[in-house]
Amino acid sequence: MTKTLLAQQPPSYYAAGIHEVIRVAEILAIGEALEQALALLQGGDVVAIPTETVYGLAADATNGIGVARIFEAKGRPRFNPLIAHVADMAMAERIAVFDPLSKKLAQAFWPGPLTLVLPQRPGNGIHPLVTAGLDTIALRMPRGFGGDLIAKLGRPLAAPSANSSGRISATTAQAVAADLGARIKLVVDGGATPVGLESTIVKAEGQGLRLLRPGGIAAEEIEAAIGMELLRGGGVGVEAPGMLASHYAPAAAMRLNAGAVGKDEALLGFGGQRAEGWRNAAAFLNLSVSGDLREAASNLFAYMQELDSSGARTIAVEKIPVDGLGEAINDRLARAAAPRDNARPTT
Ligand code: TXA
Ligand code: MG
Repeated sequence: MTKTLLAQQPPSYYAAGIHEVIRVAEILAIGEALEQALALLQGGDVVAIPTETVYGLAADATNGIGVARIFEAKGRPRFNPLIAHVADMAMAERIAVFDPLSKKLAQAFWPGPLTLVLPQRPGNGIHPLVTAGLDTIALRMPRGFGGDLIAKLGRPLAAPSANSSGRISATTAQAVAADLGARIKLVVDGGATPVGLESTIVKAEGQGLRLLRPGGIAAEEIEAAIGMELLRGGGVGVEAPGMLASHYAPAAAMRLNAGAVGKDEALLGFGGQRAEGWRNAAAFLNLSVSGDLREAASNLFAYMQELDSSGARTIAVEKIPVDGLGEAINDRLARAAAPRDNARPTT
């Protein structure tokens, strides 16, 4: 296993394999880099790619296992929502519903370092792990290799910055390789990213737009384009109560680390545990029969929602290990289990 990367810069992109199955030190034409990246994405794997802002760790946004691998490779202790990257406006409009201001910004700045948070269009095929169960989605149309790759795949790419959790975003392929090289198979090297900062994130709110994260496009430029001031404060990552409430919270109460199922309880299982009384559960779904945390992560949001819609008073959840992706799964479950005043009444 080697981490050798070529120091040459584009014009042509090249791919540098981090895993021994891909030959390193071999300059690939852009077409070949696209093919290799495409093959990994189609197989439900992740690829680090250059964008104009920072390097992204990308997976097919419709593939839950691929998206779970992003969190696994980054070692993220929780499932925060990811940006879905699109190739064109038609793809964007299949995924989300645009208000007039957001549309204006997309026309002015896409492709480019601007991310728009918009309501999701139902049935858009985006895996719920991408949005952490939210009904909004962050969308961006990147320039360069990322855009070409998405167009070729024909599906959006979920991609957070390609750094392990808690580290700063990588702006060179070498930085990605040094940080994540042992955990991913391919870094496509497009040289140093021209912007070097993450995208600016804005969200439609009432008649205006709120700046959630300053970034590669100055707020003033956005304000000039829409002819009004951006709302500020309460940005991304601020865990205001409202932000937690906007996360999908089941109407049913949640009971974690359950060894037995009570009356009127649904059961969310894991592996081969079979909590006592499982046959009498109001509804039963197993996050992963084989005990695979990646599969469990990809099923988590959909299964919580499905068990909730069974109408059960409580969802009992079997014990889930805390290693690897288990940490983020347990974090999400603990949030859903936290006391709230809008839970389904006990009968
Ligand atoms: O330039 C960029 O934006 C880079 C490149 C790779 O595109 N990506 C990036 O992704 O910085 P990430 O995951 O590191 O940051 C995305 C931010 C997170 O803070 C997340 O909370 C926020 O976007 N976000 C995603 N979906 C959201 C939503 N529906 N509502 C509010 N915030 C959202
Ligand atoms: Mg980041």
